Amino acid sequence: MRNNDCVVVVLAAGKGTRLKSALAKVLHRAGGGSLVEHVVRAAMPLKPRAITVIVGHQAEDVAAVVEPLGAETVVQQPQNGTGHAMLVAKRAIGRAKIAIVIPGDAPLVRTETLANLLRTHRNGNAAATILTAVLHDPTGYGRIVRRGDGRVTAIVEEKSTDEEARQINEVNSSIYCFTLEKLWPALAKLRPNNVHRELYLTDAIALLNQQDDAVLAEVAPDPHEILGCNTRAELAEVDRLFRARKRAVVMEAGVTIYMPQSVLIDPEVEIGADTIIEPSVHLLGKTRIGARCKIGTGSILTDTVLGDGVTIKPHCLISASRLADATAVGPFAHLRDGAVLLERAKVGNFVEVKKSVLANGVKAMHLSYLGDARIGAKTNIGAGTITCNYDGRQKHPTFIGKRVFIGSDSALVAPVRIGDGAYVAAGSTITENVPADALGIARGRQVVKPGWAAARRRESGREGHRDTEAHRKRRIQKRKSRSRKPRSRKPRKKSSRKKSRR
Ligand code: UD1
Ligand code: CA
Repeated sequence: MRNNDCVVVVLAAGKGTRLKSALAKVLHRAGGGSLVEHVVRAAMPLKPRAITVIVGHQAEDVAAVVEPLGAETVVQQPQNGTGHAMLVAKRAIGRAKIAIVIPGDAPLVRTETLANLLRTHRNGNAAATILTAVLHDPTGYGRIVRRGDGRVTAIVEEKSTDEEARQINEVNSSIYCFTLEKLWPALAKLRPNNVHRELYLTDAIALLNQQDDAVLAEVAPDPHEILGCNTRAELAEVDRLFRARKRAVVMEAGVTIYMPQSVLIDPEVEIGADTIIEPSVHLLGKTRIGARCKIGTGSILTDTVLGDGVTIKPHCLISASRLADATAVGPFAHLRDGAVLLERAKVGNFVEVKKSVLANGVKAMHLSYLGDARIGAKTNIGAGTITCNYDGRQKHPTFIGKRVFIGSDSALVAPVRIGDGAYVAAGSTITENVPADALGIARGRQVVKPGWAAARRRESGREGHRDTEAHRKRRIQKRKSRSRKPRSRKPRKKSSRKKSRR
């Protein structure tokens, strides 16, 4: 597909008043991307001579999204309507023959649909070809007015509709092909005859029709594709449709998804066959998942790569990490910022791993923090192990060798090295290197006091005996009589309380 005589013009300068947002409309996100980004990506495979995005509101932010995709931008300031936006783009469009126009807030449109529209336009030698859709509820959209023979005569905007036009279910998608030598003269004749005092691109359609130029309309086979995002409700609906579309592709490729409505998968995510995805999983960014994996309920994976046969138990948060084949993580684990698990490494519940490499077969099954660490093959990290990687100013590394045993509740104060095959005794605070095959032990010695507990029980038993029912009544009586007496000015003597026994 190559369309050297075409430009794609994306209309993305508007504010999006109806969203009631500080963020420009086309920067709102649905289906894992900003609206304008989806539109540009749909246009890219057409290989036009240029993709020109009309920017205005938050122009720099919009440019920052589309320029890396290879689009160019033209600033429209102020925004005097969709017709005005095209006029502003005229110089940038230069000598192209055909413009494919797409609004920046209709992100569901597919490349295939754009290509079909262009084909219709070329074959029909048309001045304009409109992509339309038949909607159950056409409220808010411009209506397509056709003559008896079916020819399009005009587009009537919602605000200008009369009772008759309101009944029309065929709407304007705002996606068009224009033959530019016909469009420019028509745009020159536009007048802002509407409540917003704007130049409407839709009015060019009536003008072209009046001068007997061919105006064609093609009905989109899937009306959802043209949905715009003028309101938060429409944004949510578009997001829902995007998600459903991606899940359908993934399932088609051999992935099982239980309760698919609850699962979010971003557009660029790839998943291998026979992987099972449980409810309420989010797979985001550039995540890639191998074959035969299992992703437990409630887990969220962002920009993470999984090999084959990986098990993610429920409720794990994993970002920017790499997990090799047959690794297992969770439940309730947090892997982030460059955590790397080599084959068969296992991370269990309430373990956080940051910027660390766990070599083949490492196990860290319970309640640990492993940060800035390199851990050799087959090492066992006991429950509650902490790498103390931060001294309040800087981060420091921890190196743990192969087949090391770190006893439970050990604190490894970095920078520190534990040699291959070494042991660290439970409860140690390790501040110095432990050589290979050595034992590092750093904790207070245990003291045993024979009979101490029994003696304590005997003593507290005697005290308890004194607190009889009679004692209790007398205490209450005393308190009452004290509160009846008028307060004396002198400070009362402090009662000498008995020291509590240990
Ligand atoms: C527009 C169409 C309507 C169609 C609907 C489909 C017009 C007058 N109306 O209405 O017939 O049914 O789209 O979604 O065209 N924009 C600019 N510069 C401007 C004004 C708008 O770049 O001066 C951009 C907006 O950022 C937006 C797009 O053009 O991305 C469409 O504008 P919007 O205000 O959403 O038009 P609608 O009222 O939806
Ligand atoms: Ca719109």
